[in-house]
Amino acid sequence: SQAISLAVIPGDGIGPEVIAEAVKVLQAATATEAAKFELTEYKLGAEHWLASGETLSDETLAKLRTHDAILFGAVGAAPGDTRIPSGLIEREMLLKLRFSLDHYINLRPAKLFPGVPSPLADPGEIDFVVVREGTEGPYVGNGGALRVDTPYEIATEVSVNTAHGVERVVRDAFRRAQARRRKLTLVHKHNVLVHAGHLWRRTVEAVGQEFPDVAVDYLHIDAATIFMVTDPSRFDVIVTDNLFGDILTDLAAAVTGGIGLAASGNINMDRTVPSMFEPVHGSAPDIAGQQKADPTAAILSVALMLEHLGLPEAATRVQEAVEKDIAGRGTAARTTSEVGDAIASLLAVG
Ligand code: NAD
Ligand code: IPM
Ligand code: MN
Repeated sequence: SQAISLAVIPGDGIGPEVIAEAVKVLQAATATEAAKFELTEYKLGAEHWLASGETLSDETLAKLRTHDAILFGAVGAAPGDTRIPSGLIEREMLLKLRFSLDHYINLRPAKLFPGVPSPLADPGEIDFVVVREGTEGPYVGNGGALRVDTPYEIATEVSVNTAHGVERVVRDAFRRAQARRRKLTLVHKHNVLVHAGHLWRRTVEAVGQEFPDVAVDYLHIDAATIFMVTDPSRFDVIVTDNLFGDILTDLAAAVTGGIGLAASGNINMDRTVPSMFEPVHGSAPDIAGQQKADPTAAILSVALMLEHLGLPEAATRVQEAVEKDIAGRGTAARTTSEVGDAIASLLAVG
């Protein structure tokens, strides 16, 4: 059968460290599959920009488009690094990829695995997914500043929400809810953000007509953060905009054992473009180069990728190997590659 062509972007900081383990696990998980993965590595990120001046050229973007999927680590400079304009790589490489490839679903599962300590005293069962809109909202760079650096400065960031953009992500969230526990929670702030908020509310109401078996709930973003800490079991599928989803999924990661476990997919269901899978975390400059990063988030992102590529058995194998490893982790410190080796060897023995 045909090879699956995978672009790999390790990126900066802990990106290359966790991606090395994710690739190790991918190879172990697919050794018995008929479909073989062909990997092409792309050097992109802050270090690459310093060396070459490229953030993401049209030429590189065109090459990336030809792959079946993209596995991405993390990008971004250390906070105090003055050689790199703040956020340059994040916007002109990572967001440019998500926007150009029209990754309208930013899928971020949050599950508390057995054996994982939660910071919550009584976490209960936590198993929900956040469907974060990925191509609109305040992320589009629609804004500006007047009279910069004067006492009269005015800075605006205008959130863009289109009927098309909201509807497609809401419909996807309903579908996912239907395949799970059939509960959808819209998170927004329509008491203040009336224009966008009511577009989201009306869209959920309208699309909900097609899914009469899915119960619909609504929370303002501030209240949603309360319930994520006091009663996270209430959530099944959350649908929300790009910025609320960004914030809420770091919180979701924290209550389910930490950012080192949180996986994500930037997905376009049309499959005309490659979807991109990445840990939720960033380049973690504070621990980079020390083999301290947990590669589990990157490895679970591989499971999401396998599922998306139509290899559900391989996805389940990765998921189960991770769960087994997590259950037996205890408190002993392991290096990044020790964790990757342990999970890969669980796959090797079946
Ligand atoms: P971060 O996620 O990189 O780090 C936050 C904290 O979590 C740090 O203390 C870090 O050590 C820890 N951490 C992160 N991943 C971990 C892992 N796998 N194992 C153990 N600990 C882990 O967020 P930040 O510090 O806000 O951002 C650092 C840089 O990364 C910035 O330049 C930011 O713009 C960028 N960033 C990139 C992405 C991405 O590429 N998708 C996402 C978030 C942040
Ligand atoms: C994430 C990150 C990115 C985002 C940044 C680095 C642009 O925080 O993937 O969650 O805000 O989407
Ligand atoms: Mn984030």
